[in-house]
Amino acid sequence: DGLLPFQHEPYFNYADPAVADAQRAAFRDVRARYVGRTFPLLLDGQPVEGPSTFEVRNPADTREVVWHFQSGTAEQREQAVAGALRAFETWQFSDPLQRASIFLRAAQLLRARRMEFNAVMTLENAKNWAEADGEVAECVDHFEIFARETLKWAQGKAVSPMPTEHVTTVYEPLGVVVVISPWNYPGAIPLGMALGAIAAGNTVVWKPASETPLSSLLLVELLHEAGLPRGVIQFVTGSDDVYGDPLVDHKDVRMIAFTGSKEIGSRIYERAAKVQPGQRWLKRVIAEMGGKGATVVCADADLDAAATGIVQAAFGYAGQKCSACSRVIAEDRVYDALLEKVKALTEQLTVGLPEDNAPVGPVIHAGSAQRILGYLERGQQTARLVTGGARADMGDAQGGYLQPTIFADVPSSDPLFQEEIFGPVLAFTRAADWQDAIRLSNDSEYGLTSSFYSRDPLKIAEARRRMHVGNLYINRKCTGALSGTHAFGGYGMSGTNAKVGGPDYLFWFVQTKTVAQAY
Ligand code: SER
Repeated sequence: DGLLPFQHEPYFNYADPAVADAQRAAFRDVRARYVGRTFPLLLDGQPVEGPSTFEVRNPADTREVVWHFQSGTAEQREQAVAGALRAFETWQFSDPLQRASIFLRAAQLLRARRMEFNAVMTLENAKNWAEADGEVAECVDHFEIFARETLKWAQGKAVSPMPTEHVTTVYEPLGVVVVISPWNYPGAIPLGMALGAIAAGNTVVWKPASETPLSSLLLVELLHEAGLPRGVIQFVTGSDDVYGDPLVDHKDVRMIAFTGSKEIGSRIYERAAKVQPGQRWLKRVIAEMGGKGATVVCADADLDAAATGIVQAAFGYAGQKCSACSRVIAEDRVYDALLEKVKALTEQLTVGLPEDNAPVGPVIHAGSAQRILGYLERGQQTARLVTGGARADMGDAQGGYLQPTIFADVPSSDPLFQEEIFGPVLAFTRAADWQDAIRLSNDSEYGLTSSFYSRDPLKIAEARRRMHVGNLYINRKCTGALSGTHAFGGYGMSGTNAKVGGPDYLFWFVQTKTVAQAY
C-alpha cells in the first residue's frame, strides 16, 4: 500500500537532562498559553459558547483552576447530532486515501507537539511525564495504525466467484457514532474510538470526560489542521444529564463507542437496545469497561522480574488504569518471598507531584480518595495490611494523595479481590499450586488483563488456554498495550471485546454489503 512499515513511536528518554529540560519548558509554555483560558464547543468546526462554563482543576492541587469549558445545552446537543448527520452525507463517500493521508498528517503534526500534549494531560489528570508520554505516543501510533487499517478495510473481502455474476463484498459506514470517554486516558482512548469511526467513513459526536476536555479538544483541532473536514467530528462538553442518556437515546445516533465504568457501560448497553420512535436501525454499542487484573506467579518464576512488573502495573498512574494489576496470586512456595520483594519495591516509590514526574501522583478526585480510603479501612479487618493504608502526606498540596498499599492473605471473596478499586491498592492471595492460581485468577466477573510468570513451557501453555482474559501477558506486566500490536479489550464484564488497535477493530464500525451483478 506504499506506506512505510509501521513502527511504534519511541518514548522520550527523560533520564537525559536536555530532554527533561525540554519537558519542563513545555509545562511553562502550556501554562502561559492555556491556563486561565475558556475553550469552546466545536460544532461544524466552529467555536461555539454555551450559556455557562465549568472549571477544570489540576488534581495535583485542586486549588488551581487550569481552564474552563462550556456547559453545552440540549439545543447544542441537537445541533451536534444534526451536524454529524449532515457531514455523514458526504464523508461516507470520502476517498479512503484521503482519510488515511489525514491521519498520517496528524501523526506528523502530533510528533512535533508531543511535549505540549504531555503537559496538558498532566495538568488535567495528574499523569506523570512517563505516563503522559506513553499515552501521547500511543496517539501517534493510533494515527499511523488507523491510516493503514483504513486502506485495508476499503478493499473489502474476496468471495467465491460465480461464472454468471460479478460479486463483491464491501464495508460501508454506519452513520453517527457517539464517543464517550474517560479521564484516565483522555487522548488515546477517545482518539482510538473516534478514528475507528471516521476511518470507516462514519461521523462522530465526541463527548470527553469533564475532568480532561483539553487533552481531547487539542486532538480534534489537530485533525482539523491535518485536513479533516469540519463537521466530521462534533466536539461537545457539558453535564451528563445533557450529554449522557440523551445522546445514547437519540434516534439519529447509529452507534455508541464507550470506555469507562462497568455501571455506565451496562447502562448504555441497556438503553441503546430500545428502538426510539423514528429510529430505523438497531444501535450498535461497543463498551470497554473495568478490569481486575491478576498477576499469577508460579514457584519457578523469575521473582525479581515478577516483582518489578507487578509494582509497575499496580502503582503506575496510582493504579488508575482498567489494565492495572490489582491482584497477585502466588504459589504458596514463593508467596512470602515474592511479597517481600514487592513490598520493598513499593516502599521505594515516592508519592509526589506529577508535574515533577513523581512515580506516584494523586488520584483524580477528593471523592475517589475517600472511596479508596474506605477500602483501606475495611481491608484491615479482612486482610493483612503490609504497607501503606493511609493518605500520603503532601504538605500543602490539596489532592487525593494515597500511599501505595498492599494487603496480603486476601480471600477471594473479599471486595479487595473482586471489586475494581481504581487506585493504588494491591491484593495478595495465596494459591495452593499453580493450577489453583490460574483458577483463582479467573474468579472475577472481569476479564481484561492478566499476567502469568513462569519459565515452564507446559505451565505457560496451560495459562494460554485457561486464563479467561482479553489481554494475557506472559512474563511481563499487564499494562502498556501498544496500538497495532496488543489489540486491547476484555472478556466478561470488561466489555464487548472490541479490541482497539487490533486488526478486527474496524469491523465494529461498518456494515457489510454484498453486491451480485449478473453478467
Ligand atoms: N491501554 C492501556 C494499557 O494497556 C489501558 O487502557 O495499559
